[in-house]
Amino acid sequence: MNADFSLCSDLKQKIQQRSARILTIGLGYVGLPLALTISETGFPVIGLDINKSRVSKINSGQRVISYFSESRISDAIASGGFTATSDPSEISHANIVLICVPSPLSPTREPDLSYVIKAAEYVAAWIKPGQLIVVESTVWPGATAEVVKPILEQRGLLAGKDFFLGFSPEREDPGNETHTTRNIPKIIGADDAHSRDLLDAFYSQIVSQAVPVSSCATAEAVKLVENSFRTVNIALVNELKVALGAMGIDVWEVIEAAATKPFGYMPFYPGPGIGGDCIPVSPVYMSWRARDVGASVPIIDLARFSNDAAPDALAGRIASDLLARSAVPIQGANLLVLGISYKRDIEDTRESPALAILDRLEAMGAICDYHDPYFPVIPKTRDHPSLSGRRSIPLTECALREYDSVIVTTDHSMVDYSLVAQFSHLIFDTRNVFHKRGIVVDGIRLVKI
Ligand SMILES: NC(=O)c1ccc[n+]([C@@H]2O[C@H](COP(=O)([O-])OP(=O)(O)OC[C@H]3O[C@@H](n4cnc5c(N)ncnc54)[C@H](O)[C@@H]3O)[C@@H](O)[C@H]2O)c1
Repeated sequence: MNADFSLCSDLKQKIQQRSARILTIGLGYVGLPLALTISETGFPVIGLDINKSRVSKINSGQRVISYFSESRISDAIASGGFTATSDPSEISHANIVLICVPSPLSPTREPDLSYVIKAAEYVAAWIKPGQLIVVESTVWPGATAEVVKPILEQRGLLAGKDFFLGFSPEREDPGNETHTTRNIPKIIGADDAHSRDLLDAFYSQIVSQAVPVSSCATAEAVKLVENSFRTVNIALVNELKVALGAMGIDVWEVIEAAATKPFGYMPFYPGPGIGGDCIPVSPVYMSWRARDVGASVPIIDLARFSNDAAPDALAGRIASDLLARSAVPIQGANLLVLGISYKRDIEDTRESPALAILDRLEAMGAICDYHDPYFPVIPKTRDHPSLSGRRSIPLTECALREYDSVIVTTDHSMVDYSLVAQFSHLIFDTRNVFHKRGIVVDGIRLVKI
């Protein structure tokens, strides 16, 4: 029997018995739900994170992700099947290691794989024959084979022979209660048959459907294609918003009507720009890799530039509409920005367009406050250092009356929009939230932008 075959069949047996020990590296928006889902399936799971404070909060059962049910983490800890650690030597006791660390953009807005490389170095230091290593972080097509694999092989073990390697992109949609880690089909890719077989055996036990593809690079590309598709369509709908607005047509009404077409159309909705860890980032990875291999993706690039420019364009429109409607110049205007998360009902400001709008309005001379139930204080961010430490103001009748205008940048559920509608002088709604909730605001005081 070949070494690789016996190692593979040993691990497969452990997977089938659900006795394989799983270790996730990174306990963020992707790694933690994944670790808990695997633990809830019956596998013993350890979550490794360099953030010691997060590790101790998780081990004491605290709900570190707001949209989790109250007891999801504490139940997992109490079951004895899940624990968190900051000790990388735990990697040596695992049978399957899942890398779920950040893969952001560098300050020059290029792919930054430094966290993935660091995690791979941890694994390389503790790797054991027979382990299955899976990269879940978003990377450019080819990175698992060209960047991660050589690091893992540094100590002489070979991928596909002594250990197994694959890529499986996360499709987590934070806060989405319909599409959860368990019921979202999962793409699995590997460059050899044993690794692919093990990925299939493992993920088929965890998620409703595992979708094998022929290589790591193909699986990596799937993720970038999904997000590039969103990027292009978001840019398109925001462009249409402006053009249709100039024609006196409500883009939201157009989209709702177009969405009744049962084929060939998928609705995308306007907004203040794109944010989060995926949609602004993946197209950059795609574009960078395309250039690297001598190709190009001009449509994706154009969409990126258009999306990147959206917060500035919105700030400009707010300034001109404020002057036209209320005779208030932006210089010295008192404004309230409602919501700083990049999307509804989560505590995440990564790449948030709301912060970019706030920054831009202040650069134009406005005096801005913000309200966000998820952020009593604005956290440190690389792109908006001057905003960190600001405090959310309470949303009261008295406060609302003080502002020349309120700008709805994030449509969090737990905001009293009726109060906002009643007592604001002028509202800029980037999310169509008042219409969606059936809250009537007279047209003079509401601008959908
Ligand atoms: N957030 C999303 O909605 C989403 C969706 C799909 C895919 N992704 C991708 O998943 C990956 C992870 O994203 P996330 O949102 O979970 O990030 P996150 O920032 O929420 O969490 C990452 C965690 O990894 C930890 N970490 C960093 N380096 C580490 C190391 N060397 N060892 C151990 N822990 C380490 C950090 O402390 C942090 O807790 C990224 O590649 C991202 O692009 C994210």
